[in-house]
Amino acid sequence: MKKKFNPKKLDIKSNYHLMISGIVPRPIAFVSSISLNGEINLAPYSFFNGFGANPPIVGFSPALSGRTGKPKDTLLNIQDTKEFTISIANSAMVGQVSLSSCEYDRSIDEFDITGLTKQKSDLVKPPYVSESAFVMECKLHDIIYLGNKPASGNLILGEIVMFHISDKILDSNNSVDPYLLDAISRLGGSWYSKSKEGLFEFKKPRHNGIGFNAIPKKILNSKIITANDLSQLCSVDKRPDLNQKIYQKHVKDSDHDLELVCKKYINDKSIDHAWTIISILEER
Ligand SMILES: Cc1cc2nc3c(=O)[nH]c(=O)nc-3n(C[C@H](O)[C@H](O)[C@H](O)COP(=O)(O)O)c2cc1C
Repeated sequence: MKKKFNPKKLDIKSNYHLMISGIVPRPIAFVSSISLNGEINLAPYSFFNGFGANPPIVGFSPALSGRTGKPKDTLLNIQDTKEFTISIANSAMVGQVSLSSCEYDRSIDEFDITGLTKQKSDLVKPPYVSESAFVMECKLHDIIYLGNKPASGNLILGEIVMFHISDKILDSNNSVDPYLLDAISRLGGSWYSKSKEGLFEFKKPRHNGIGFNAIPKKILNSKIITANDLSQLCSVDKRPDLNQKIYQKHVKDSDHDLELVCKKYINDKSIDHAWTIISILEER
């Protein structure tokens, strides 16, 4: 059973906590911006993502303070000077990310507070975090104001005008090695995660898979063959023909044993063999 929560009946804090606990993990943008007077700012934002590649657009949302309703320095600076940089936070700087999120006065430079190194940008005025291996220089595309009450969001969309990526994390094809990037992300409460510790590969089918509709009902309810196993079975573009050898070998096995055999074939990537086992089960 699922418990329902109607956001219209909850207070701001509860909605916020549900959002940050369930929309996870969120990447962390370490955003640097500059005021009209040249005061530099650095703060982390995890309501952050990429939204298109042509043009390359990133977005993040500095909300109005949940307590005071006041705009954050990052929002004020970007409204005024229309430029920013995003440095991707890694696990070596989590303490500095956290420290920089304290409410320092607008005149305070969080690079000084955190001891992080300023690196001059090529095309925008705000510097970036030298210790980050993946950096984007951005020019303001648009700000979408999502309300004018405490905790209302302000979605800042920026066009990436320059990437700076450490050659230490790039392979010979200029692909980023996710282990070396060592990005961190944010979850609910004070939880963070190290993305490199949870990495696994799962390849998308090369064609449109036949889908779960093609799986016999009996197998859908299996306690042994999981949804992830079934996803691999129905990633084929058509149901394969029976493999007579496999058929003869297993035709007398019990249903339970057949399910175990089927799972083993799936794990061994012998999807055609797995389908032959499904056919035996289906015939019973
Ligand atoms: C990891 C992390 C992620 C955060 N993400 C957001 C966010 O997406 N939106 C937001 O308004 N505040 C977020 N905050 C809080 C801001 O960083 C904090 O309010 C900060 O003081 C804003 O600084 P500024 O006024 O210099 O822009 C986050 C804090 C941390 C530690």
